[in-house]
Amino acid sequence: MALYCAGNWKLNKSPKEAAEFIQSLKSAATAAEQANLVVFPPALSAYAVAAELKGSAIGWGGQNCHSDVKGAFTGENSPQVFKEMGASYCLVGHSERRHVFKETDEMMAKKVKALQALDIIPVLCVGETQDERFNNRTQEVIEGQTRKGLSLAEPGKPFWLAYEPVWAIGTGQVATPEQVEDAHALLRRVVGDGVPILYGGSVKSENSATLAKLNNVNGFLIGGASLVVDEFLKIYRTSQEAR
Ligand code: PGA
Repeated sequence: MALYCAGNWKLNKSPKEAAEFIQSLKSAATAAEQANLVVFPPALSAYAVAAELKGSAIGWGGQNCHSDVKGAFTGENSPQVFKEMGASYCLVGHSERRHVFKETDEMMAKKVKALQALDIIPVLCVGETQDERFNNRTQEVIEGQTRKGLSLAEPGKPFWLAYEPVWAIGTGQVATPEQVEDAHALLRRVVGDGVPILYGGSVKSENSATLAKLNNVNGFLIGGASLVVDEFLKIYRTSQEAR
């Protein structure tokens, strides 16, 4: 399977900054590299990203969406609008959606269904908290989040998974190779072959080579380190070389 690097910009980059990022990424990355890169801009900068990416193989997606395409949902973003703008992916259940915005597994399942109906690939994010890991609940938690999040998925329609331990996100504390390999092996058993499983949580160019060599690691979902073109590309290149 190819190795993918996806940048989750979170609430960073205005439309102008986003367009500048894409222009430099397009000139720095080869066509072959571009095909394995994805960016997740904040919704209000997505239009600028989509415009810059016309004709490029770099993919982009929403960071979150509502499960209905329209209606009385003040402040939400429609998956149909992402589709019309050219999104190929959308994150579902990122740790910050679960823990800061209190979204539930039931909400994730509906979002997965809505996205697949529009042929947008959902990237379902799962991961245990530090407490859950200390209490030996990691496997139960990530398996449960995966099964529930996919409970309304349409058989045969593509989706991706991202394993992101909550305690590793934005903390500089990357999971150990053993922890990553164990979690990915479990997720592989749950979803089967052919589903890209990304690792996320403090991925940087200094640790990506080690992680890219692990079984069942098909790429990375990168937060902080994806905000600078050179570092984002360096993560992709060091990972690719390490394989
Ligand atoms: P981080 O974030 O790389 O800054 O730890 C990863 C994520 O939240 O997807």
